[in-house]
Amino acid sequence: MGAHDDTLSRRTYLKTTGAAAAVGLGGLTGYLDAQSNTLEVQHWWTGGDGGRAISVLFEGFKQKYPDIKVNENPVAGGAGQNLHTVIKKRVLNNNPPSTWQDWPGQNLTPYTDAGVLKDIEQSVWNQGNMKSAYLEGPKRVAQPAGNYVTVPLNIHRLNNLFYNVEVVERAGVDPTSFSKPSDLLNAMRKVENNTDAAGMAHQTQSPWSTLQLWETELLARHGQQAYDQFVNGNVGAVESQVKDALEAVKGYRQYFNDDAGSVDWTQANSKIINGGAAFIHQGDWAAGMYRGQDGFEYEQHWNQVTYPGTDGMYSLVIDSFPFPKNNPSPDATTKFLRYVGSVDGQRRFNPKKGSIPPRTDVPRDAFGPFLRSQMDDFQNSRAQPPSTAHGLAVAPEQLTNVEGAISTFNSTWNVQRTFSQLQRAFQ
Ligand code: GAL
Repeated sequence: MGAHDDTLSRRTYLKTTGAAAAVGLGGLTGYLDAQSNTLEVQHWWTGGDGGRAISVLFEGFKQKYPDIKVNENPVAGGAGQNLHTVIKKRVLNNNPPSTWQDWPGQNLTPYTDAGVLKDIEQSVWNQGNMKSAYLEGPKRVAQPAGNYVTVPLNIHRLNNLFYNVEVVERAGVDPTSFSKPSDLLNAMRKVENNTDAAGMAHQTQSPWSTLQLWETELLARHGQQAYDQFVNGNVGAVESQVKDALEAVKGYRQYFNDDAGSVDWTQANSKIINGGAAFIHQGDWAAGMYRGQDGFEYEQHWNQVTYPGTDGMYSLVIDSFPFPKNNPSPDATTKFLRYVGSVDGQRRFNPKKGSIPPRTDVPRDAFGPFLRSQMDDFQNSRAQPPSTAHGLAVAPEQLTNVEGAISTFNSTWNVQRTFSQLQRAFQ
């Protein structure tokens, strides 16, 4: 099942959420009196996918507010493949949790269109120096409809190539010398000729990993202009570029692990840890998983280079926590969102998650050498393209359609068919 496998049309969805919001307003008097001291937070960070990072965030919050009970209600599944559906239903039923993990930007527009998110400029963003401490990009995506409705917690980079140092050495390849995608292809060939490892750890069970690989290939081969045309829905204008990037991904397929169709991304990433594969393209949440692994050290056992061909780019993925109207615990939620936006919250969470903070005043020494080098790359980047697979650049309805096209690709590897479906995704 895909992440957004439901048949609600955008119009029905908006109508229903609008109606739900109106009902919520009617019931307002009751819930204000009876507001709960239990904060229910839904997220998809379990196990190797950020489990430790969200735990230390909650610990810090509970130390500050011992009276608030936290009801953590995770729904596992990379890139929110299962949580998105749960949240959408709960919002439709006018029964949202206190807050939840969600991507800001275009991803939130169905909720802002339906008017179900609260303006938190006064209650959260104007507290202390929060607004001035935030970077511009994350601040902008926190206002998908022009006002503040959510709080970004982290900044992830998508255009990474991670690798197992020992495997690439045995294969006789040097990833620091790569400058274009074909260098990666040649290296994978050598890995498979010279070692028992797979060239590339990957998962095709759920479409998002192939989608993010493809969007990175598009950037690497044809630059941000072509990418922008795509996310703006002008797919026909970049037909040859879109197809070229699909062909490239198709070329990598023979180097995927044999079980790519039946593993999730953390299982695929384990192959980098245990030497079963040489390379993986992933967001730097993959590094959060390495950091939790005893005896698997940065530079000695694993390393990272900017995805070949995307030098100077820092493709963005951001997680945030929105404030829904009809909130079961408005006071506790306000406190939690202020904490998500605080130095302490971001200092605890980001080093373990493998992300960098959206605040500029979080001490650098809380971070290890890998994330410090990501911070430098971010500072020096000339472009920060927002991710498609992770909802920053496209609204959920289009993303569902794009994921549908990539599911077709994962099972047929038919470039023409996938292209036609990608084109229809925006119509
Ligand atoms: C992204 C999310 C990351 C990470 C990843 C894998 O969408 O922003 O925090 O969890 O998915 O699930």
